[in-house]
Amino acid sequence: MERIAVGFLGCGNIGCGVYRLLESFGGELEKNEGIRFEVRRILVRSLEKTRAIPRALLTDRPEDVLNDPQIALVMEFMGGEEPAASYLVRALQNGKTVITANKMALASHWEEIVRAARDYQSGLYYEASVCGAIPIIRAINDSLQANRITSIMGIINGTTNYILSRMSREGAAYGDVLADAQRLGLAEPDPTADVEGYDAAYKLSILSTLAFHRHVPVEAIYREGMTGVTPLDVQCGREFGLTLKLLAVAKMEGGAVEARVHPTFVPEDHPLASVGEAFNAVYVSGHACGEMMFYGRGAGDMPTASALVSDLIKAAKTKKHPLPAVCDEPCTMAQDWQCVHFVRMRAKDEPGALSQVCGTFARHGVSIASMVQKGERDEGGCVQLVFLTHRASERAVRLALSEMARDLVSKVSVIRVEGR
Ligand code: HSE
Repeated sequence: MERIAVGFLGCGNIGCGVYRLLESFGGELEKNEGIRFEVRRILVRSLEKTRAIPRALLTDRPEDVLNDPQIALVMEFMGGEEPAASYLVRALQNGKTVITANKMALASHWEEIVRAARDYQSGLYYEASVCGAIPIIRAINDSLQANRITSIMGIINGTTNYILSRMSREGAAYGDVLADAQRLGLAEPDPTADVEGYDAAYKLSILSTLAFHRHVPVEAIYREGMTGVTPLDVQCGREFGLTLKLLAVAKMEGGAVEARVHPTFVPEDHPLASVGEAFNAVYVSGHACGEMMFYGRGAGDMPTASALVSDLIKAAKTKKHPLPAVCDEPCTMAQDWQCVHFVRMRAKDEPGALSQVCGTFARHGVSIASMVQKGERDEGGCVQLVFLTHRASERAVRLALSEMARDLVSKVSVIRVEGR
């Protein structure tokens, strides 16, 4: 039986989940894999907090984990950018194999962390950093290696998927569902990272970097949150047969990468439309494998622990650690993208208004696929116009909208449509 000493950096929900899984499943792991993992030291912020973990394992000195020569594998679940990123680099430089769930540290310090792994020939494993239990990193790195991946579309944030699923089902307003999600512990007291799309952007940076073999920095990802989505948008989309999701989209075309996170309509018969509640899914297209979807739990202590312990086993059994297959050339980011656009606007209900709106779209090469005028005039003599364009350039749609007279058109909402 091989015995391997493990150090933890952090011991919140996820760390405690890993500890519990190693305790409860350790016997089977020993039988199946012939390895006994022994947690030797756990870095915590406060030694006083009550935890179901022996007090003797706890330390508040990072060097007790990072510099302990007995510790071969370091698992990080502190979260946040710093000091986590610096600890990851130090552990790698000390020749330790690192297993992390920290998408923020990894995405924000990708080059530095990967360089440390390469320079010191240390192992770097991060399955849990994207979509919790779903084995999407391993799928991209290993199972789909024989593919040129052309696009990734993911529901990679559970909190926003929960909120949008309920808004769609109940016709409820964003603020009301968010407050409920916070009461249920499904959204953070400060929900910014989730609802503004930062969490999804970190994950998309990692996924697209691996899929396209180019470093796609977080800052290069177009990001738009979901706080402006209204029940009226959800309802109008449904009338066009569309379901609203916060989608992370990455595509590689002609050597350029487009990467974006924003509210997105998908056709209601698209596999992503059926992904409800706090579930995650990643829809991948490859030139050889075709289209496939990975679905499961993207967060929570045990789903995340499942991915972390699987990395632990893989790391322990690997003689030569793989490095991410990413070339050093800078990534060319696409400056524009094409997709179907849903455009809803409040417009004056008077002769020629529609013709002016359509004329402006036409001047910018934006072709209308469908259009409806909704409801009665409001107190300002305006109605809701809802358009679905054919595939059109984002820049052209934006330009056209910016040229429409403010006294004619107001309260414009633009939502991209994918999967058609
Ligand atoms: N807050 C994230 C989510 C989980 O809602 O999916 C961790 O990334």
